Amino acid sequence: MIKPGKAVDDMIQSLVPHLNKGDLIMDGGNTYFPDTTRRMEELEKKGILYLGIGVSGGELGALQGPSIMPGGTKLAYELVEDLLLKIAAKTADGPCCTYIGNGGAGHFIKMLHNGIEYGLMQGISEAYDIMRRVLKLSADEISEVFEDWNKGDLNSYLMEISYKIFKLQDEKTKRPLVDMILDKAGQKGTGKWTAQISYELGIPASSINAAVESRQLSFFKEDRVELSRKVNKDLPKGFSDREKLISQLEKALLFTNFIIFSQGIWLISEASKAYGFDINISEVLRIWKGGCIIRAKMLDFFIEIIDENKDNVNLLNSEKALSYLMEKINSVKYITGIAKDYYIPTFGLNSSLDYFFSMIEERLPANLIQVQRDFFGAHTYNRIDEDGVFHTDWNHYFPLS
Ligand code: 6PG
Repeated sequence: MIKPGKAVDDMIQSLVPHLNKGDLIMDGGNTYFPDTTRRMEELEKKGILYLGIGVSGGELGALQGPSIMPGGTKLAYELVEDLLLKIAAKTADGPCCTYIGNGGAGHFIKMLHNGIEYGLMQGISEAYDIMRRVLKLSADEISEVFEDWNKGDLNSYLMEISYKIFKLQDEKTKRPLVDMILDKAGQKGTGKWTAQISYELGIPASSINAAVESRQLSFFKEDRVELSRKVNKDLPKGFSDREKLISQLEKALLFTNFIIFSQGIWLISEASKAYGFDINISEVLRIWKGGCIIRAKMLDFFIEIIDENKDNVNLLNSEKALSYLMEKINSVKYITGIAKDYYIPTFGLNSSLDYFFSMIEERLPANLIQVQRDFFGAHTYNRIDEDGVFHTDWNHYFPLS
């Protein structure tokens, strides 16, 4: 488990002279999956086995058992299967480790895990911001809300750590530690890679991508500070219905989390086909139920939906999913409306809602985009009433003057 990138290549180079045919190297870091596939192919020529293993769980996972996502040849996996199953976190559904697939499949799934992680963290941080800015709740009060949500359908590791975070006082200032932390979110690459792959495969993952952008934007602190001084925000005077806002926020977060996971699952399914990984999605969701950062009660619901129809790679195709989301749609509209009144950025909530609106819309305005493309670049278009590819001679109708 070393830093991804050159350090891994250097380490492999230093190990190889000491290895025999049939020996196995395992990379348990957050390596970019195409690098794993490349390394595996190079080592294969020397008869050395290689596994790219996604490991999630942080420091606690290392002690209590992480979620383990191994990829590579089945032969290599079988050599260490017993060991990995013993190390892995355990749930009622078994150890949180399963053979993911060929090549860089394990690291691909870890990357996706992290993309989802970015999305979920973004959603919780938006909920915090709304409670802080609209309801003016204290850290202790926010902690109580999160703790309460953690007892319900939002139960998850990230919710659990969030309520704990809000309890901690900074020793130096005696203020909540969270208030003393600079608002610039770091990232090491896995979220960005997930976004890049979604673009490469043409599979929309707008909530995950928005979470990456939101972190990028947070880095421009100096610009934000300066601009915030130039703008006069006409904020509402006060907010009375605290209970309503909190209960709607809980539903809005459930909606957003569902959308984030559904985008991730769809991406896994398409990538599995594109890269020949042959990934069993139910199994991936099962091993995410323990040990890892995105473990959440909601995973059981996704497994249930997928097990009903394995072809439902886009969860929205399930009736159950649609009614689950529609039950919450008014809450998301309510919360995003309030956020706008208060000038609160809600990248995660907005992108999830727009993703859903787009997916349930028969006619999007993409027809106009197509015709604009045809106007300025003769990119052609399809028609709704006739098969074929069409182009309009725009110069004929609107001659250049
Ligand atoms: C995990 C975490 C772990 C790491 C993240 C942080 O599953 O245990 O995801 O791998 O903490 O990669 O990523 P960022 O630094 O990009 O937020």
